[in-house]
Amino acid sequence: MKISIIGTGYVGTVTGVCFADMGHQIYFVDIDQKKLNAVNSGKSPFFEPDLDELIEKNRKKITTTMDISEAIKQTDLTMICVGTPQKRDGSSDLRFIIDAAHTIGKALVNNDKYHTVIVKSTVLPGTTGKVVQPVLEQESGKKAPVDFGIGSNPEFLKEGSAVKDFFHTDRIVIGANDPKTKKTMEDLYKPLLAPIFTTDIQTAEMIKYVSNAFLATKISFSNEIGNLCKANQIDSYEVFQGVGMDKRINPHFFRSGIGFGGSCFPKDIHALIAFAESQAIDTKILKAVLKTNDDQPQKLIALLKKHLDIQGKKIGVLGLSFKPETDDIRESRAIPVITELLVAGAEVIAYDPIAMPEFSVLFPNILYTDTARGVFTADAIIIITEWPEFSRLDYSGKIIIDGRRILKAKREAAVYEGLCW
Ligand SMILES: NC(=O)c1ccc[n+]([C@@H]2O[C@H](COP(=O)([O-])OP(=O)(O)OC[C@H]3O[C@@H](n4cnc5c(N)ncnc54)[C@H](O)[C@@H]3O)[C@@H](O)[C@H]2O)c1
Repeated sequence: MKISIIGTGYVGTVTGVCFADMGHQIYFVDIDQKKLNAVNSGKSPFFEPDLDELIEKNRKKITTTMDISEAIKQTDLTMICVGTPQKRDGSSDLRFIIDAAHTIGKALVNNDKYHTVIVKSTVLPGTTGKVVQPVLEQESGKKAPVDFGIGSNPEFLKEGSAVKDFFHTDRIVIGANDPKTKKTMEDLYKPLLAPIFTTDIQTAEMIKYVSNAFLATKISFSNEIGNLCKANQIDSYEVFQGVGMDKRINPHFFRSGIGFGGSCFPKDIHALIAFAESQAIDTKILKAVLKTNDDQPQKLIALLKKHLDIQGKKIGVLGLSFKPETDDIRESRAIPVITELLVAGAEVIAYDPIAMPEFSVLFPNILYTDTARGVFTADAIIIITEWPEFSRLDYSGKIIIDGRRILKAKREAAVYEGLCW
């Protein structure tokens, strides 16, 4: 199949390149020429394990263009993968989706072939049917699903393991209200041999939000319990090991610590809360999930202050990305921690294997060091991201405050405080 990918960011690039690897011809579109240039030169526009190799391997099956109508003319299916950021009031900003829909709609006018438009971006229930489809119909003068197909295919990949997640996903969710779109999407994904769950468009959109909301709830729950465990000298990891043996519960995602960040959980939960509020429905649990998450960095700083008056001291920070194996710093827990350290009068020296260039745009005035060892000149060290190389450092003699449970640090440090253990 020939597929247009609108938005060559994390989701678009990974999805497009993986489909190319499955034998499809891909047209990448973006408004940012730099991203397209990167893909054109055989490189991912961002750091993601295995992606550069996969782009290089499939270069013959990849075309890049800033011209959506050209891409649509050449293809049978379009996947919208543009960003859906958070507005100031927490609600979802559909600017990029609507812009893309206008351009796609115009491109459909002179398109004689049947074309299917799929929304892969994370959008609230009703967005595809009540926002995207009317724009496409108005611009094209055509009607869905008679003249073109429309559907939803939310994405569940995780940055840092996105390629693996694509090929070995737990499930594929397809939202389609007509049999033709349903068949097109099921045929596309069939070779992956993964369970395919097909439902209507609104339900598919909701599944994505509920999945993220549940995972974030699991993290905040394990943090709340972890704080209680810490106060009672109990190791929350052992607790959750025992708890997770219950099949109804399962052992995954109970990693208590400094909390979640990234481009998805915080914004998606804010959006779900705003969506509920717009219908006068209260979401007490979701609000508590965010509050618990926001409080964890303060707890880490409080543990540090137990051992050190941080005013005028040099504090080392290990890890700046929101999780390992990515240079994405969106909503990284390093942001509130470093802000708090600076407010308290500390000098900060930080290290991350790949996220320092991004982070230094946000924090140009802290010190950065080229090696993890460089951080060890500090009076105390805080661990924010569990990069594998941090499990090979020598922590002896240091004060370590750990937000991620690096066991080697626990064994070796002169003073060690785990956030929830
Ligand atoms: N990043 C993740 O881990 C992840 C996982 C699952 C779902 N999602 C969802 O997928 C969507 C995309 O997320 P992302 O992280 O890939 O975003 P991103 O910011 O990395 O990429 C979005 C891309 O869209 C481009 N763009 C914006 N408007 C455009 C237009 N009109 N035409 C063409 N390109 C346009 C931007 O330039 C950018 O390159 C979001 O809704 C997000 O919530 C993200």
